[in-house]
Amino acid sequence: MKPAIAFGIVAAAASAAFSQTSPAHFPAPDLMRVGVYYYPEAWPSNQWARDIANIKKLGLEFVHMGEFAWAFMEPEEGRFDFDWLERCVQLCAEHGLKVILCTPSPTPPIWLTQKHPEVLMVDAKGRRMQHGARQHACWSVPTYRDYVRKTVNELGRRFGNDTRVWGWQLDNELSHYGKEPCYCDSCQAKFRAWLKSKYGTIENLNRDWGTAFWSQRYQSFDQIRLPNREELAAQINEHALLDAQRWFAEEAADYLRFQASILRQYCGNRQWITHNFMHAFDRVYPVLNAADFEIMTWTIYPVHGQLNEGPLGFRLGSAAAFSFACDFFRNINGVHGIMELQPGQVNWGEVNPQPYPGAVRMWLWRAFGGGAKFVCTYRYRQPLFGAEQFHYGIVGTDGVTPSTGGEQFAQVTREMRLLRQNFNPDAKEPAAYAARRTAILYNFENRWDIDNHKQTVRWDTMGHIFKYYRALKRLGCPVEVITEAKPLDKYPVLVAPAYQLVDENLVQRWRDYVEKGGHLVLTCRTGIKDRRGHLWEGPWAMPILELIGAKIKFYDTLPAPHSGKIKAGDATYTWVSWAEVLDPAISTAVLAEHADQYYAGQPAAVTRKLGKGTVTYVGVDSVEGELEARLVRGVFERAGIAVEDFPDGFIVDWRDGFWVATNFTDKPQRAPVPPGAKLLIGTAEVPIAGVAVWME
Ligand code: GAL
Ligand code: ZN
Repeated sequence: MKPAIAFGIVAAAASAAFSQTSPAHFPAPDLMRVGVYYYPEAWPSNQWARDIANIKKLGLEFVHMGEFAWAFMEPEEGRFDFDWLERCVQLCAEHGLKVILCTPSPTPPIWLTQKHPEVLMVDAKGRRMQHGARQHACWSVPTYRDYVRKTVNELGRRFGNDTRVWGWQLDNELSHYGKEPCYCDSCQAKFRAWLKSKYGTIENLNRDWGTAFWSQRYQSFDQIRLPNREELAAQINEHALLDAQRWFAEEAADYLRFQASILRQYCGNRQWITHNFMHAFDRVYPVLNAADFEIMTWTIYPVHGQLNEGPLGFRLGSAAAFSFACDFFRNINGVHGIMELQPGQVNWGEVNPQPYPGAVRMWLWRAFGGGAKFVCTYRYRQPLFGAEQFHYGIVGTDGVTPSTGGEQFAQVTREMRLLRQNFNPDAKEPAAYAARRTAILYNFENRWDIDNHKQTVRWDTMGHIFKYYRALKRLGCPVEVITEAKPLDKYPVLVAPAYQLVDENLVQRWRDYVEKGGHLVLTCRTGIKDRRGHLWEGPWAMPILELIGAKIKFYDTLPAPHSGKIKAGDATYTWVSWAEVLDPAISTAVLAEHADQYYAGQPAAVTRKLGKGTVTYVGVDSVEGELEARLVRGVFERAGIAVEDFPDGFIVDWRDGFWVATNFTDKPQRAPVPPGAKLLIGTAEVPIAGVAVWME
């Protein structure tokens, strides 16, 4: 039997040994570069020179090309044409613009899929996808990989040793846009092979998948198919589903690694390689490619009809989601950038409002505060045809007039130059800021396993995590979103929200962390299952009980329109999704208790000292997050760590010698600019969607 090992760690160790290069591609004095997507294949070639000259005039610094252009790069099988791309690369070089090139694998040409329909993905209903959109091929099919190999190889041969090219993006937002996984024969076979190598024997799989339940027992690996809700008469086997999610994520990571290894033969580390991950998409797991890329990049469209925090959230985006994504991607291998940032109104939401005036600029500055090495925007020209009509570009439908978003991008390039003039390589991170550095422990396996069986539709996993994240940003903490692969001891405070899947080794690491002086916050749903997704044969959340100094008697969930009340100090808070009733040991202090339901008066949140540190356990998920904010603040107060008191959505961070404040709230806010500080951008009174940048 193989021991259960934490998934991300194994996969990262197994990946191609590519050592993190020097930051040569992203020198510190450059701070953050700003650039744009351009699709020459979609515009008359006699406009290319004008467009690229205008990109330069706007102050943009790099151009991203080639992403979906397979039918132009290889118009017929085996006949490659990169001359058109070469002309554009040269135009960029003549203007001093860096170039990002892409592999065109999300959009196979019709000749390919017509000749090999078996490369087309199969959805859950067994339907083969057709030509005419994107991401309709399956990257597990060996034939598809062969074609990708040839094209990427030709691209590498042509541009992999070309100093005009800065770096590479592989594919685009790897996914099947919600239709994943693919259920084709290749995927079925690869999933089975993966299971065989994971479990060795079918008995091991039967045990870990709990197939004694409903007579699901398998006799051999050949009998297994990817679990598919569309083909199941009743509930899915959650252990099989979790493994299918792990397999899919590893397969996607493998595909990116496969493409990277082809380019590396030509570019070595002279050009960088990345993929543009969708920041909120959890089927592909960026952490698995940590060792393959010099920079982790991601895409974000903050405004597309969702409400977000606060009355203006629908025009400003979510400060928490934006900032959390920076803190997550930055920590994967230490270097991150944004490959796509919304330039204005988009077209693909159910409703597509205008962003608030200034919001685009504010997002760029939030990216800067979050450590991004570059921000690229999708796209230069608003498309006149195709699936993305109505989508803003940096210039409008006439191809030359900057949009409101385009003006904001241009403004940031000017502001960034001002910052570069003030860059001081010796600037030290302010001590009070460093002293409140907090890590959030996070992995996709917990997210998958909770979301696979939420137990109440009123539960929102990311919403729960964001309550803690928002609480920390209100305190002015630098936050590092880390996986278990990282050491824990660098952080005075560590929060592991709804960390459902644990093993004894992790619990021991938490205990050691606390005993040495760390302040650990665990929240409801933590530790209730092992890594296979089985409950413990013992009390609820057995492995963490000694650590938190309490038992968990039971949890409750409430159907709408009911809500429950929690009392902490003299304040009362509301919950609807999840609340536990705790039974603390004598030495454990109660921080909050139930104020209604039949368990009124019983504890809901507790804290205890252990060794040199403390453990706080919050057994409830409140509606507004104000309970969480209060309890998190209490952890810092008891630990004697000085904190700020910012409003939710007003985020202040320090980077490379600069303080950056961005205002996602619905009111002007006061930035904490000390007397004598040098205000470089904005005013200390920061308007809605405004920015202030200063140095001390
Ligand atoms: C992204 C995608 C781009 C473009 C954009 C439109 O998710 O990567 O190719 O479709 O959305 O907003
Ligand atoms: Zn497939």
